Amino acid sequence: MKFKRNFFSILIFISTFIVLLISNYKVVKANNDDLKVEYSAFFSKDFLISGWSDYVEDNTKLWYKGNYPSAIKIGLVNQPSGMSGTVIYEVNLSGSGWLNSVENRAEIGDASLGAKPLEAIKIRLNGDLAENYDIYYSVLQDGEFTPWVKNGEVAGEFGVGKHILGLRVSITKKDTTEPSESKVIASNKRYEADKNKIDITNIDTSKKFLALTYDDGPSAKVTPRVLDILKANNAKATFFIIGLHTGGNEKILKRAYEEGHDIGNHTYRHKDLSKQTLADRKDAIVSTSEIIKNVTGKAPYLLRPPYGAYNRETLDMISSLSLSNIMWSVDTLDWKHKNSKKIIDHVLENAKDGDIILMHDIYTSTADATEVLVPELIKRGFTLVTISELAAIKGVDLQVGHTYNSFRNKKSKRLNKS
Ligand code: NI
Repeated sequence: MKFKRNFFSILIFISTFIVLLISNYKVVKANNDDLKVEYSAFFSKDFLISGWSDYVEDNTKLWYKGNYPSAIKIGLVNQPSGMSGTVIYEVNLSGSGWLNSVENRAEIGDASLGAKPLEAIKIRLNGDLAENYDIYYSVLQDGEFTPWVKNGEVAGEFGVGKHILGLRVSITKKDTTEPSESKVIASNKRYEADKNKIDITNIDTSKKFLALTYDDGPSAKVTPRVLDILKANNAKATFFIIGLHTGGNEKILKRAYEEGHDIGNHTYRHKDLSKQTLADRKDAIVSTSEIIKNVTGKAPYLLRPPYGAYNRETLDMISSLSLSNIMWSVDTLDWKHKNSKKIIDHVLENAKDGDIILMHDIYTSTADATEVLVPELIKRGFTLVTISELAAIKGVDLQVGHTYNSFRNKKSKRLNKS
């Protein structure tokens, strides 16, 4: 008995090790072989969205709408073997001045809630690295990123009451050109900097944003039409799919994902989660997440409970499965009346900046409504984005197990905290 147990522990240990090895290998392989930098910042202002960001890739604009970094850490990726040196950095912390420099992935600044903001930074390489590479950086100050500076020069104006709101860092080969225009923002921990996603750094955040959501698909008849309309209008949406409906429609789901839409979990058979046994509930969610992961390569982090029905136990389970609970703020009732004009009128009359619109991509009438709504909403000044993009634009870091009805404003976000 004891032997058996030990044997299984060893087996699990070895498989974990192999999985880790494979996933690390993928990460290394995904980068090209050039020396790159990666960095993370501690955002300290708002209790809901404070904390360390994930490490972001070389030449990414890292900022958080309505927040500011008070500490940073910077590391190197793909350091050529046999080349000495590391990255060394200093920050100017408001009220404290320049702090002693630190190296390679060490924290510098004040990583505590409500800490004072940074005012300026200096970064340099040493050893062989300094002979072979330049490190460029710039900070978001006064509403824009400052011009690049490099190799230990000061980025940011300090001592004059200005704060850094974000930063970008990039490494290039020595004496070549400045880094190209920065790619994407990763201001939201759950927001993946995906090539298909809208670059929200180039979006005027004073504009109006909406998240269209489509449930119960994929449907061979309706979903491709909805995707065509979205594509023709350069609009993004979120699809909460039913596991059972994916069978035979894998290509449609893959297409939706590859065209930059968010894919969320709407359970396997669309049963009321709050009325199922815990085991059935878990199975309904897990099996659907696995289907999504198998088709798209990425596990979902958004869930919409069927009928919008959930209880405390369901939320605990959603939380344990690393999902956020996404409800809606505008209900078109498209499933009930199946009338495209009613859908169109309801959305145009009710949609406000930050809203989540509920529709279903299994009715022709909903596709008909989408055909009119998408260009009309854009004409009326709305940018149509996915749930994760809307959260990122509004500075909300999606938390697991929390319920979001909309991203309208601060007040509604607080109310939705569950
Ligand atoms: Ni549904």
